[in-house]
Amino acid sequence: MRKKIVAGNWKMNKTLDEGLALASEVIAMVKAEVKNNAQAVLCTPFISLYSVGKLAEGSPVAVGAQNCYDKESGAYTGEISVSMLKSIGTKYVILGHSERREYFAETNALLAAKVTAVLKAGLTPIFCCGETLAQREKGIHIDFVNSQLTESLFLLSEEDFKKVVIAYEPIWAIGTGVTASKEQAQEMHEKIRTHLASKYGKAVAEETSILYGGSCKPDNAQELFACKDIDGGLIGGASLKARDFVDILKSF
Ligand code: PGA
Repeated sequence: MRKKIVAGNWKMNKTLDEGLALASEVIAMVKAEVKNNAQAVLCTPFISLYSVGKLAEGSPVAVGAQNCYDKESGAYTGEISVSMLKSIGTKYVILGHSERREYFAETNALLAAKVTAVLKAGLTPIFCCGETLAQREKGIHIDFVNSQLTESLFLLSEEDFKKVVIAYEPIWAIGTGVTASKEQAQEMHEKIRTHLASKYGKAVAEETSILYGGSCKPDNAQELFACKDIDGGLIGGASLKARDFVDILKSF
C-alpha cells in the first residue's frame, strides 16, 4: 500500500510565534479529527523546525525542511546540512521546489547530490518536479518532467529510490489559483509512474508515493486525491490556515 501524505509547504512565511500558533492548531485538529492513515507533514522555515518539532513530538504530525545543502559540514556560510536537520528530529526534506530551481538556480545535478545526502542520513526527500505553461503548450511537458526525474533520481540504487517521495507540481498552478484538472494531474502522475517503472520495475513504481501540488485546496483536494495515481498533496497557500490544511488531510 502506498503511503498517503499531505505536506504543508509554509515557504518563507510565519515568524517563530506565528508558526508555533499555526502548528499547535494543526496538531490539535489532526488529533481530534483525522481518522484516515494519511501522514501530515509541516515543512516550516528553518528557524521554526526545532520548536515545531518539539510541539509535534508524540503526535501524528511530522516536520520537514524546505531545503538543505548537500555537504556534510564546513565553510558554506548560510547553509544547513542534513545532519543538522536530523539532530533536531526533522523527518522530511522538500528538494527541487520550482521556486528554488528558478530563484536559486538549483540544477538537476545539484539536486541529485542533495537527494543522496538526505537519503544517506535516513531522512525522506520530497522531490519536486513540474513543467512551465510554455512547456505544456509545446507538448514537451512529459519529456521535461521525465528528464528531471532521470537526472536527479535515476542514479539511486533501488533500495534508496524506494524511500523517495515525489511531488508533481506544474509551475503554472503554483500560487496562481489555477489547479491542474484531475485529468491533467492523473495523466502526469501515471506518466511519472510509468517512467519510474522503466528504471526500477513496476512493483517499485507502484509503491512510490506521488503527491500533487499547485493550488490544492479543500474544495478540490477530494477529486484530486480520488485519482488512481495521486497519493496526496504538497500544499502551499492553504497550509497557512490550519482549518484548510486539516480539511485537505481529511479529503481521502
Ligand atoms: P500552492 O503552492 O499550494 O500555494 O499553489 C504549492 C507549492 O508550491 O508547494
